[in-house]
Amino acid sequence: MRIVILCGGESPERDVSLASGGSVARALLERGHEVVLVDPAAEVPVAAGPLRPGDAVDGFEVGKEPPALLDRQLLRRRMHAALTGGPVLELLRGAELVFLALHGGWGEDGQVQDLLRKAGVRFTGADGAACAAAWHKGRAQAALGAAGLPVAERVLWRPGAGEVPEEVKRLVAAGPVVTKPVADGSSVSVHRVESLSRLAEVARASEGAELLVEPFLPGREFAVAVVGDRVLPVIEIELTTPLFDYTAKYQPGAVDEVCPARVPDGFAARLQELALRAHEVLGFGEGAYSRTDFRCDAAGEPMCLETNALPGLTATSLLPLAAAGAGWTYPDLIGRIVDLAMR
Ligand code: DAL
Ligand code: MG
Repeated sequence: MRIVILCGGESPERDVSLASGGSVARALLERGHEVVLVDPAAEVPVAAGPLRPGDAVDGFEVGKEPPALLDRQLLRRRMHAALTGGPVLELLRGAELVFLALHGGWGEDGQVQDLLRKAGVRFTGADGAACAAAWHKGRAQAALGAAGLPVAERVLWRPGAGEVPEEVKRLVAAGPVVTKPVADGSSVSVHRVESLSRLAEVARASEGAELLVEPFLPGREFAVAVVGDRVLPVIEIELTTPLFDYTAKYQPGAVDEVCPARVPDGFAARLQELALRAHEVLGFGEGAYSRTDFRCDAAGEPMCLETNALPGLTATSLLPLAAAGAGWTYPDLIGRIVDLAMR
């Protein structure tokens, strides 16, 4: 099959996405597909194509500092142009399938999916509506909470010139909190905050982005992936740092990721049930895949943190680890994602 992989893009997770794209390309080549890699935000968007087995596809290093100084406006303009007309769109239309290896921002918030849908292009993963429902962490948690899933207390706050809202002050007074942008992935700009003075620093650095403020959950951390109608074995993220942040995520050895997690069967089944429910509640259908992340409170109760619409697919990412836990090789996983999209 002729498959175009979209990777790179405009978000701070750009380099993670390029690495995912390279890994996916290798797996698709191994399965005998014809593959073209496209970074719609690049000046020359068709990075390589068609690839031949053995072509270098992973010249990107993950684990550097997040590229904070990306000119996102410029990258977005290029992406919009590439996906709405011209040779890239023609290339996508000529493919049997577009494999989305984008992460974060455009790509994970549903906008790219909506553009592809409009252009009549078939793509992998969730549709635009499910991506949009999952992407804003505050609204997604509210939807999950309303459906009866366990979520922590949270306050949404867009720091500006005014006073810190009383509810935020109350959360900080009650114990450490975690602040994160409501819409970003890979734990870019996630902070643990213990005082109002530290909060003021984080607020200044947020440059007006809306923040989610929630109590710091001191318990164990888990992730559960769903691929179509299959829920995969539970992963535990054993942290050596207080937070599973960007550096911990992409620095080999900074965390221990164990799959299947060493937990009682009943507890694993509960996490799997919650991940399936989150997948359904947010509108991910049986043709989609997702990864829901959990952290336990002081009583050991798991809280849903978020559901990822385009979870990482790098060699060290969690979804491939969960797939291995289920006995699937990496190319098996990629093949299943392709099959789901072709149904
Ligand atoms: N946001 C990153 C790519 C993940 O969910 O794995
Ligand atoms: Mg995420």
